[in-house]
Amino acid sequence: MSNRKLVAGNWKMHTDRSEAIKLTTEIIRLSKMSDVEILLAPPHCLIPLVGNLIADLPYIELAAQNISEHKSGAYTGEVSAHMLHSLGVSYVILGHSERRKYFGETDQIILSKIRRAISTELKVIYCCGEGLEDRNTAIQNKIIEAQIQSSVLQLTPDQMQDIVIAYEPIWAIGTGVTARPDQAQQMHAFIRSILADHFGEQIAMQVPIIYGGSVKSNNAQELFAQADIDGGLIGGASLDAESFVAITEAFE
Ligand code: PGA
Repeated sequence: MSNRKLVAGNWKMHTDRSEAIKLTTEIIRLSKMSDVEILLAPPHCLIPLVGNLIADLPYIELAAQNISEHKSGAYTGEVSAHMLHSLGVSYVILGHSERRKYFGETDQIILSKIRRAISTELKVIYCCGEGLEDRNTAIQNKIIEAQIQSSVLQLTPDQMQDIVIAYEPIWAIGTGVTARPDQAQQMHAFIRSILADHFGEQIAMQVPIIYGGSVKSNNAQELFAQADIDGGLIGGASLDAESFVAITEAFE
């Protein structure tokens, strides 16, 4: 178990201006300062708005859902790491299965984005996860090992300070089917063992490994009670302030 606890709300392509104000204001009203880092990942265009609302709350930080792998230039429609950093964003979610599936992000592109983020002082929530077919044929460990190998194992020990790993089995994302706590724990322990083999025990223990995939207020506690689960990456339930704040409080 890492000594950090972290819960991130991935709003995906949801909320407009007034909904974002309402959701953020409610989260602020309901949440309390604790040792849990709370991250909000609104759509890019709503980041300044949400950022202004949380400006006085040190325990709530901004995350972005994507960055360009390029530093700057003629890349119509793209948003750079520096632009987001200049707006007060501290984290970026990279490697999410939706980016891999719908936007063709390969391991190589994801690694370029990880490097871009770190060099721009953005911390990274790196997502990995196997599909249903992989789990049914019992090759999930191989899949995760390959993803970790192609991403965080390419970094230096120093850079690992800026990494959070999110284990998100694809079959659990947005489906209402959560990994059983023991299934998630097994994978988290496996990920930590890969980190320990490569970087040593100390770094492996420092990196938060959070779980994502249909985390709700009624299953978070059991998941977060597992030895190697340091928090959650929350999709659907992060759009409801009460559910989201309850999840941030689901640690023992
Ligand atoms: P979900 O999404 O909580 O809606 O399953 C998780 C994610 O995609 O990060």
